[in-house]
Amino acid sequence: MRREVFAVLALLALSCAVPAQPLRDLAAARGIRVGAAVAPGYFSEQPYADTLAREFNQAQPENAMKFGLIHPARDTYNWTDADAIAAFAAAHGQALRGHTLVWHNQVPAWLANGGFDSTRMAAILQDHIRTVVGRYAGRVYAWDVVNEAFNNDGTLRGTLWYDTPGIGLSGTGYIEQALRWTRDADPGAKLFYNDYSAEGSNTKSDAIYAMARDFKARGVPLDGIGLQMHFTTSTPSLASMEANIRRLTDLGLEVQITELDVRLPVDASGVASAANLAAQAKIYGDVTALCLKFPLCTAIQTWGFTDRHSWIPSSFAGYGAGLEFDASYQPKPAYDAMAASFKTAPPVIAAGALTNAASYAADAVSPGEIAVLFGATWGPASLQLAPVSGLRLLFDGTPATLIYARVGQASVVVPFSVAGRSSTQLQYEYNGVASNAVAVPLRAAVPGIFTLDSSGHGPGAVLDSAYRVISRDNPARRGDVLQVFATGGGALAADSKLAAPVSATIGGVDCPVQYAGAAPGLIAGAVQVNLAVPAGVPSGEQPLSIAVGGAASQPGVTVVVQ
Ligand code: XIL
Repeated sequence: MRREVFAVLALLALSCAVPAQPLRDLAAARGIRVGAAVAPGYFSEQPYADTLAREFNQAQPENAMKFGLIHPARDTYNWTDADAIAAFAAAHGQALRGHTLVWHNQVPAWLANGGFDSTRMAAILQDHIRTVVGRYAGRVYAWDVVNEAFNNDGTLRGTLWYDTPGIGLSGTGYIEQALRWTRDADPGAKLFYNDYSAEGSNTKSDAIYAMARDFKARGVPLDGIGLQMHFTTSTPSLASMEANIRRLTDLGLEVQITELDVRLPVDASGVASAANLAAQAKIYGDVTALCLKFPLCTAIQTWGFTDRHSWIPSSFAGYGAGLEFDASYQPKPAYDAMAASFKTAPPVIAAGALTNAASYAADAVSPGEIAVLFGATWGPASLQLAPVSGLRLLFDGTPATLIYARVGQASVVVPFSVAGRSSTQLQYEYNGVASNAVAVPLRAAVPGIFTLDSSGHGPGAVLDSAYRVISRDNPARRGDVLQVFATGGGALAADSKLAAPVSATIGGVDCPVQYAGAAPGLIAGAVQVNLAVPAGVPSGEQPLSIAVGGAASQPGVTVVVQ
């Protein structure tokens, strides 16, 4: 009896000790960041610091990195607040987002009234970017390089950076220049253009899209577009926002929701109606689910997080209550709706996301191929070896053998049973929720040679007959038999050899194949090709190629010959 009582008490203690999952954990399982704009003046308010640390895995200065605050006099930088935010973020495992380098607002008087010509303005901006971005290099993972450069009619806003006097570049040239200077100052940071009222498809977002497409086509360093999302309860339609995010991510750009809030009419004590709080919650939930539809929508950030501290009441008379926590740090319906979307929105997979695990070839797979699916928007936050609880990959409804998975990357063996078909429908399922289905072309064989650094290029995964890795220090010797590790060999015969004929070359010289089939001791789908190194093979680092039934392995794989 005593033992049962203890067991029940222990269970009770356990269930009390486990809090509901904070947003940051839910977002991590989605492979994205959930962030908030923050002000260091509130860090000493314990519930502010506690809530921020508990719920968010991204932080961004609401004001502290703006030109006028961080560079208040010509030769003076004030790092105090920005450093405090960077330290808080580092202490709590939060990604730090930088905001913003080029903006028409919150510029210091010395700059606005300095009477500088374009040449001086260009020098000032370049120096500012070099100094600020350089200081936070390796800490700020993404910058809003340019903020709010367009008017609603799609023309460029007249600003001190563009035309009054500007930095001497016409059109979007000044935006391009700022992006290039930022890339130079921190090659590791992601560079964003950020704006408001450009969430849905409209004249302004058309102009931003046109700029982004031009920049991508010309190799201008732009990694993403920030959609601010300062909303009232009447938002652009979800379809319109989806279309806009689709066209941006189709360019290969990331999209981040950067400044979400949904302001509500409030009474004199700042209280909103229950109906409006419910409408607000629906928007928070819908926007979260919308982002989760896109593998390239990589962050959802709100502009603040508590109604206690928000720019809304002072900027929009009669409005407030725009955030996901109330003024007492209690989660609002908006919070619950975000959490619900994180927990239930279906995972999404993209066409072309299933790749050969050795070569990363993405155009087709073959029966028994070890493949890696990139970008699925739900899964374990950290890498797990199979079995991965709750995760299935289905090929025409057949669950595949999993090797490992984390959100955004899952490795599987394409079932041998798909042999003979021209394509297979791939579906990804997590926690019982299925993704969209994607048609993946099938070929009899898609050989890929594993490479030593897992890049798909360079030295292949090749052993000599004594099981030593071939390298510069241990080059292949003529007359020896090498073991080449590959996948994508297609169907196996009853004796576990590849069903199709196999050939191999080193340095363009044919190598007799002594065995090609299942790699003993490795997972089904791993292929081993034993080939003899003939006398005529040239010395040095030579291209290595295998072909299965006429399908060749990826170019660029090498083996060093003595
Ligand atoms: C706002 C801040 O929240 C206020 O504290 C400040 O007084 C003015 O700027 N779009 C942006 C943000 O990109 O930088 C703005 O932040 C809100 C609108």
